[in-house]
Amino acid sequence: AIFANSEAASREVARRIAEVITENDNIDRNTVIGLATGATPVLLYQELVRLYREEGVSFKNVITFNLDEYYPMQPNSKQSYVTFMKEHLFNHIDIDWNNVHIPDGTLEEEQVAEYCLEYERKISLHGGIDIQILGIGRTGHIGFNEPGSAPNSGTRLVTLADLTRSDASEDFGGKENVPTKAITMGIGTVFKAKEIILMAWSHKKASIIKKAVECEISTHVPATFLQLSDKVQFVLDKGAASEL
Ligand code: GLP
Repeated sequence: AIFANSEAASREVARRIAEVITENDNIDRNTVIGLATGATPVLLYQELVRLYREEGVSFKNVITFNLDEYYPMQPNSKQSYVTFMKEHLFNHIDIDWNNVHIPDGTLEEEQVAEYCLEYERKISLHGGIDIQILGIGRTGHIGFNEPGSAPNSGTRLVTLADLTRSDASEDFGGKENVPTKAITMGIGTVFKAKEIILMAWSHKKASIIKKAVECEISTHVPATFLQLSDKVQFVLDKGAASEL
């Protein structure tokens, strides 16, 4: 779907999330949402906060799993995805903090593999992800699944691409301060979601969106794997869609 601007697109995605929450509330089920970070979902989170404040949408029965976190990373650090999620969403809605899951960037490296399996198990225990929100990096990554990631990959520790670290350098006050690794849900993890929405805004994303949608499916552009699933919707503004 292509929208005139990112505001209208974000409103539509928020409306869909609210609809799934309401449907599940009506049958006494929790709603499991997969969440993304970065600039792209900021307006979506603003709109969800508005729906909570003004339209009575409650997040009491919502369980969230974030896609990724830098590694190593302290949760209270300014650049952590924990801080990001609190600032943009969790501090402003009625979600139960026990229902929030964000990969732990503080583990010892030898603990990470078991932790990642446990992250997958928790998602399954809650019945799987109902709706997964994705952004896209300029390398074609989803979550932090950089080129080379396998379509059946699970949650794991990965090495960040050079371009991804350059794109993050402003947040960290220099590329040398950007962690070299991250913990990310895998492409296989994302694929298990019942519904997947990838959002992208502005002409800066136009060329990677063209590749993701139109290029041959390949690990060189991990987002091309999304072509394999009929559960995926691309939600774009005019700029991001301008090369299609
Ligand atoms: C980071 C995140 C991704 C996100 C990407 C795009 O790498 N780990 O989940 O999709 O950035 O960021 P932005 O939305 O700021 O363009």
